[in-house]
Amino acid sequence: MDKATFLKNFLPQGYQQQSQDSASAFAPVNIALVKYWGKRNSQLNLPQNASLSIGLRSLGTTTHIHRAEQDEIFLNGQALAEDSPFAMRLWSFVNLLRPTTMGLSIHTHNDVPTAAGLASSASGFAALVKAMNGLMGWQLSPQQLSIVARMGSGSACRSLWDGFVRWNKGERDDGLDSYAEPLAVSMPQLRLGLVELSQDAKAIGSTLGMQQTLETCPLYAQWPAAAEKDLVQMQLALAEGDFSRMGELAEANALMMHATMIATRPSVFYWLAESVETMHRVWQLRAQGIEVYFTMDAGPNVKLIFLDQQLAAVLRVFPQMQVVEPFA
Ligand code: PMV
Repeated sequence: MDKATFLKNFLPQGYQQQSQDSASAFAPVNIALVKYWGKRNSQLNLPQNASLSIGLRSLGTTTHIHRAEQDEIFLNGQALAEDSPFAMRLWSFVNLLRPTTMGLSIHTHNDVPTAAGLASSASGFAALVKAMNGLMGWQLSPQQLSIVARMGSGSACRSLWDGFVRWNKGERDDGLDSYAEPLAVSMPQLRLGLVELSQDAKAIGSTLGMQQTLETCPLYAQWPAAAEKDLVQMQLALAEGDFSRMGELAEANALMMHATMIATRPSVFYWLAESVETMHRVWQLRAQGIEVYFTMDAGPNVKLIFLDQQLAAVLRVFPQMQVVEPFA
């Protein structure tokens, strides 16, 4: 089944009655603590493994949509050319969600750099789908919105909620059981530190990166089962409020994902020298008894994971990091 067929069947018909002229929505960035890497169905963005993330609450994407004579997109206040990669990706998705005759003006604002591995595509697609839900009057539940957001970008299905969120892998071919849901656990002292090392767009997008990893990485066969094991352990750690275990698992899982990327032929390599330097600094801090862990996604930037009591010590080494309080 292709995306268009799935969405045509899935989205409510006759929605025009409740539709609006404009709608706005916000969705938070999410950072995976157990990563999603690899699709079992690339049309429907169905994953090879379940994943688990933390929403960044205050950082994300705000999208405003209104009906217009002519299609236009503004990203962070700037009009985008029709043929820019961002605009093309967005329109090809929006075209699956609206009648052909409907013109739209879309204004989207990201709190984090676009396409630099700070997960802005996840919050972007989630905010877009929420805004379209208001505009079209679909009245979808969060779980249904998660399924539609997944069609835009897999990890977007986790950006419908704050806090810890698990994306269920699902078993069905149509993906109706592959959606995210919030976990009833919190860790109020948890802090994320975003260490931005580059604002450049990543060299290779996650869709292509995953596909190449799946096709050519000799280590990849190990990944889905190993990631599922990490997920079970991660849920236990969260249920027990065991921060150390959570941090260890998140860091190890990110490195395992990057090991598969690196061993892909040709290598899907996202690290800069500064990324490696940052990892060493984290390990030095831990050797000094300051508990801080890192995770990384499809880009060179590093996200630090620590508790509030270590904030001052971590800031001394990373004065430029942006601190996020996911549960405040
Ligand atoms: O949703 P995508 O296709 O941008 O993939 C995201 C993949 C990672 O960010 C590397 C991992 C994850 O689970 O978020």
